[in-house]
Amino acid sequence: MKVGILTSGGDCQALNAAMRGVAKTLFNKCPGVKIIGIEDGYRGMIYGRFHEMSGEDFSGILTKGGTILGTAREPFKHIREIGEDGLDKVKSMEDFYRRNKLDCLVVLGGNGSIKTASLLSSRGLNVVVLPKTIDNDIFGTDMTFGFMSAVDVAVNAIDCIHTTAASHSRVFIVEVMGHKTGHLALNAGIAGGADIILLPEIPYKIEKIIAKIEEREKAGHHFTIVVAAEGAVSMDDLRLSKKQLKLRREKMPVSFELAAQIRLMSGKDVRVTIPGHTQRGGSPDAYDRILSSRLGAAAAGFIIEKKFGVLAALTGSKITPVPLEEVAGKLKNVDVLSDEVMEAKALGICFGD
Ligand code: F6P
Repeated sequence: MKVGILTSGGDCQALNAAMRGVAKTLFNKCPGVKIIGIEDGYRGMIYGRFHEMSGEDFSGILTKGGTILGTAREPFKHIREIGEDGLDKVKSMEDFYRRNKLDCLVVLGGNGSIKTASLLSSRGLNVVVLPKTIDNDIFGTDMTFGFMSAVDVAVNAIDCIHTTAASHSRVFIVEVMGHKTGHLALNAGIAGGADIILLPEIPYKIEKIIAKIEEREKAGHHFTIVVAAEGAVSMDDLRLSKKQLKLRREKMPVSFELAAQIRLMSGKDVRVTIPGHTQRGGSPDAYDRILSSRLGAAAAGFIIEKKFGVLAALTGSKITPVPLEEVAGKLKNVDVLSDEVMEAKALGICFGD
């Protein structure tokens, strides 16, 4: 058996741990299996960059951040276009698969990568996907690997900010990743004891934010911690088109815009902290090591059982194969009526709504 493996899209913690899970299981259960490491995501298939990997390559990488194969964004919206180099990317990937006589392609990817994986699957390639992203926004799985580690990094930043915010009686905005979905902001906000959490799914009114800051002032708390997803939107932003909002955010991140408004309307001293890509870096936490190892082992099982065209998904406490066509093109947003959001509100956290 010959299995190709690649990591695609933005990196995250536990990519190596997940690949190790796949490889260890295959080496254990399928004597003679060959694993082909495809470099820099789908680009490795398009441009023929790969190498055969031995058990040694997967040794000692459980705790290693990043990806030993490299990764790249190869946007799905351009995947069927002929590039400047005249290459038909989809055909190149199909040719790569057949030329190298692969029996299966394992993709560790997020939403964009899943669309490409689904396309390749519909063209007859045997594909198994593992859900990776710090955003936890992949439809069909309760959890993605990378997410909890990113929450830990963001919470660590919020914890550090808490002490300095209190010392200086300041309002602090910690802007965390998450353009389209707010799972990271919601969870980091709850774990970090945020007073205000702003999500793309719940448009905020600046007046509500000011009211919360004033309520805290009156109660003798002279500092406020706001955790905002980078894709948080105000009610006013809803009047803008997607393109207009994108242009505006390129000029000024939401946190800086908010900081200026809060300063003006409350007279408080306001600061912004953006942990940025640190949220994707460093070692995976224990949760992600376990989840990615389990997903890897289960994905190898799907390959052995010839269950192809599936995402290895966490469903409750089980890892189950979910058909790619049920997942591709769908986004798992924060459910604004979920228990988690309601409980956060019950705790007194303001969402600006
Ligand atoms: O999808 C993961 C993610 O980390 C998002 O949360 C973030 O908006 C984006 O990637 C950043 O992408 P890049 O690494 O291309 O700057």
